[in-house]
Order: sequence, then structure tokens, then C-alpha cells
Amino acid sequence: MNIHSIPTKPFNDQKPGTSGLRKRVPAFQQPHYLENFVQSIFDTIAAPPGATLTLGGDGRYYNREAIQIILKMAAANGFGRVLVGQGGILSTPAASCIIRKYQTYGGIILSASHNPGGPDGDFGIKYNTANGGPAPEKVTEAIFANSKKISQYRILQALDIELDAIGESDIGGMQVQVIDPVVDYADLMASLFDFNAIHGLLNSGFRMKFDAMHAVTGPYAKEIFLNRLDAPADSVMNVVPLEDFGGGHPDPNLTYAHELVEIIYGDNAPDFGAASDGDGDRNMILGKHFFVTPSDSLAVIAANAKLAPGYAKGVAGIARSMPTSAAADRVAAKLGIPCYETPTGWKFFGNLMDAGKVTLCGEESFGTGSDHVREKDGLWAVLFWLNILAAKQQSDAQQLKARQSVEQIMMAHWAQFGRNVYSRHDYEALPSDAANGVMQHLHASFNQLTGAQFGRYTIKTCDDFSYTDPIDGSVSTGQGIRILFSDGSRIVFRLSGTGTEGATLRIYLEAFEPDVNQHHLDAQVALAELIKIALQISELTKRTGRDKPTVIT
Ligand code: G1P
Ligand code: ZN
Repeated sequence: MNIHSIPTKPFNDQKPGTSGLRKRVPAFQQPHYLENFVQSIFDTIAAPPGATLTLGGDGRYYNREAIQIILKMAAANGFGRVLVGQGGILSTPAASCIIRKYQTYGGIILSASHNPGGPDGDFGIKYNTANGGPAPEKVTEAIFANSKKISQYRILQALDIELDAIGESDIGGMQVQVIDPVVDYADLMASLFDFNAIHGLLNSGFRMKFDAMHAVTGPYAKEIFLNRLDAPADSVMNVVPLEDFGGGHPDPNLTYAHELVEIIYGDNAPDFGAASDGDGDRNMILGKHFFVTPSDSLAVIAANAKLAPGYAKGVAGIARSMPTSAAADRVAAKLGIPCYETPTGWKFFGNLMDAGKVTLCGEESFGTGSDHVREKDGLWAVLFWLNILAAKQQSDAQQLKARQSVEQIMMAHWAQFGRNVYSRHDYEALPSDAANGVMQHLHASFNQLTGAQFGRYTIKTCDDFSYTDPIDGSVSTGQGIRILFSDGSRIVFRLSGTGTEGATLRIYLEAFEPDVNQHHLDAQVALAELIKIALQISELTKRTGRDKPTVIT
């Protein structure tokens, strides 16, 4: 066997963020850069000889090259088998599904999620553990520690491996099994949702449009919506995955998914719209001329979960990230089940799901999911909404034309539970010093702000969110500044952990509105006063020179 130990030096900037290590493509293309990080993963996880690894990515630029390097390093590091998606492709939820279904030791996922791709775009890599979920902080910290003292990595000298044909090959005594990236995932979806009912809905004149944004979900959407559910061909768009996502920003929100948004707010709009991101774990849900916030989407799914066969027994509990609105908390209270508030990032949900404490979880950042895998899951959320719409249509079949629209479902939900009016304002690419200055200033103002009154709002408490994991007792601090008002409204300030350019400051705004007559209001209008307070107490304009967010969701 031709295993080489290559001498190398640490890079010192390989600290995984909210979701793995993300850098610009040229950073990953530096000699030894990817190899150092992969060796640091292998040194940390210490897989037993002969272990099986899952491997795949979202197909962005540099995916194929990285897959080849990782396969050769896995062979040199004693793995016995790697399950790799055909063409090097696996959506993030599909990778989680494969790790769990075939009980592999862990998995490596190549993705920078919703960040743009291409030669000057972003690339990323993360490790998922045997439960299918992102490695917990103690593992990512150990990977970082190893990356700072690495002196060599191991790699097999071999020709590139054929990735485009399904089948098995051998490199240096390690089996490489190229698998269909879609089928296991599509089977899992069919086991959770009422495909007959959705089939009926999609063939009854109800029109949907799913935008894969030229990212990884294209083949998954084609198989599920067109092949298995027989939806008309124009139910999907941008389904050909491209290495640079067609130059777009594959983030399913009102700003970046504008092509879909124009269709859904245009004339003759479809009844239902949805989009997913670069690696398939995010989702956006739209109705005709209507946007569902991710926080509300989680609440609606929770309230209607029993309509889907896979959730007919009910929901054990719900978890949401701290900045996500408390809409789900209201549903949990009604159902008499617990609702957990965790720090930002999917990795905090894994322990709760493994312990059977929660079934559903979600983040305001267009992430929704359940314990069927250990990642958020874009197409799963889309299918859940279609299942709910189909079930409601069926139960109203006697009353002619009583089909409920997305908007009607949302309005009925708010009438029952009240509305947590919600918006997030992002200030992207700020100079790091200025962004840190805003956070430090807020920190230093806690005493002064407590009890302060701003118009109809009074600040009850301020804190920096920290979380003690109820399962393993691990503590995560510095997870975002919370300004909590006496009426339950909130402003949260947080610095992004996924950006690659300067700093991104996120301001999360939430106000509770019980009055049905106010539920139709635009969120920006309803939140205007809180937005002003956020700018005032943070001194944002003075400190950053910005007076408007770059993205509003
Ligand atoms: C962002 C989102 C967060 C999500 C993460 C990965 O992280 O805010 O909810 O889990 O992407 O998709 P951030 O950039 O805020 O650290
Ligand atoms: Zn993603």
C-alpha cells in the first residue's frame, strides 16, 4: 500500500463555527489546508480500524476534488468502507439519513449551506457523529485543538476514484461504495407522510412551485414531486444543480429566492411555494401572495402534526433556538408538552432528540426538522405542509371549495394561539471591530437598560443567553444578548458564526399580538417601534455607519 505521511504545519484558523469550518474556496485550495482539517477530524474521532464513513456534499465548486482527497485520507487512516453519494452528492439531511440507516461510524459533509459557491465563493466541511447529527461542541473544539498542533497527515497515493457510477471499488484495501443519493431519503419521506393524499392534492388543480435554486435538492425534488407524487412538470424550478448555483445565493428567503417570490406574489400565482438552500436543509414556505415565517411554520407543523402518519402518535416535545419566536411555545403549552430553548445551531437539538425528549425542532433561520434525522430538513418541511394542506382539504371535502389556503391556515392558527409578530434584521459584512463594539456596548448597558421605558415598552431584564444541556450538563455561554420587555416582547442581538466576510450582526425582533384585528398587519409595520428601540440602544448607526439592514427576513 502506498500510504504517505506528509509533513505539514498548523493554519491556526480552522475553528469550526455554527456549522463546521467555512472559508472561501481559495483558502481551501491552499496546499494542505483541507488535508490538515480532515486529519484533525480523524485524529479527534479515533474511529476503530475498519469503520465505515458516510461522505457527500452539496455539489458546489471544489466538492469533487475534496471528495477525492478525503477518500484517499480515509483509506490511509484505516477506514474499512466509505458510503459516498453518486457524483459526490448528498444533501445534508440525506447524509444524516444514510449515517443512521446504515449505522456508519460518522460522516463528513461538504457544504457551505446557503453561502454562494464558485471559484470565489464559499466552501465548507463538517463532521457528523453516529446519531447523524452535527458533532457537539466538545468534538468541534477538540478538532480545532488538534488542527493547531498537527505536524503530518496520512494519505494514500492512488488514482482518482470513479464517483459517477453506482457500485463498489477498492482503494488501498478500503471499500468505496458509490450509492444513489436520493432513494433512501425519498423512502424515508414516503414512510412519514401520506403520499396518497398529497398525490391527490397535487392532481386536483392545486398548484405548487418548488425552487431548488440550482442547488442540491434538484434531484431529490424531481424524484419526490415528479416521479413519486406525479406533480405536473412545472411544479419544480431550477432543479439542475450547478457548481456555482447559477451565480445565485442559494438561501431560501424573501431576498435571495426572488425568482420564486415574484411568481408567488405575481398574477395567476400558484397555491403553494417553497424553496430550499444549497445543501437542502433549509426551507421557505409560501402561500399565494403570502409568506410564512419559519417560527410560525414550526408552530403550525406542531399544532397539526397528527395529520401526518409518521407523527400520528403525537409529539413528545418541541425545541427551538433562542432567537426563534415563542410561537411554538404556545402550541406546546396547549398540547401539554415541553418546549426547550437552545442556543443557535442544529447541534444543540441532537441530545434532546436522542433522549426522546423532543420530536420537532426549528430555528427562525428557515430550519425545521424532526427526529427522523439529526439535521434540519428542507424537503421534509415542504412535504409536511403539503400533507397538512391535503388533509385539511380532504376533511373539508363536503363543503364545496372549502379547501384551506396557506394563508387561511396561518390566520386560523393566529386566531387560536395569538400571533408572535417576528422579523430578523441582518447587518452583513460589518468591520469586526465595529460589530464587536456594538455587542460590548450593549453588554455594558445592562444595568442602565433594566427597567428603562421606551414608549409603550419597558425593559424587564437583559442578559447574555447561556444554556446548560439538560442531557449531558455541558454549558454554552455568550449565545446572544436578550433584551426582554415586560409584555413578552424581545429584541435579541447576536453575531453570526457562519459568515466568511467581516462580521454579521443579527437583530431579532418579536412582539406578541393577541388581537385578531391586528393579525393582518405587515411585520415591519407592527414592529416599527421595537426596530427604533433596537437601533437606539445599540448605537448601531454611530458605531457602524449603517442605518439599514442588508437583509430582512
Ligand atoms: C446561521 C443561522 C443558524 C443556523 C446556521 C446554520 O447561523 O442563524 O440558525 O443554524 O446558520 O444553518 P449564524 O450565521 O447566525 O451563526
Ligand atoms: Zn443549509
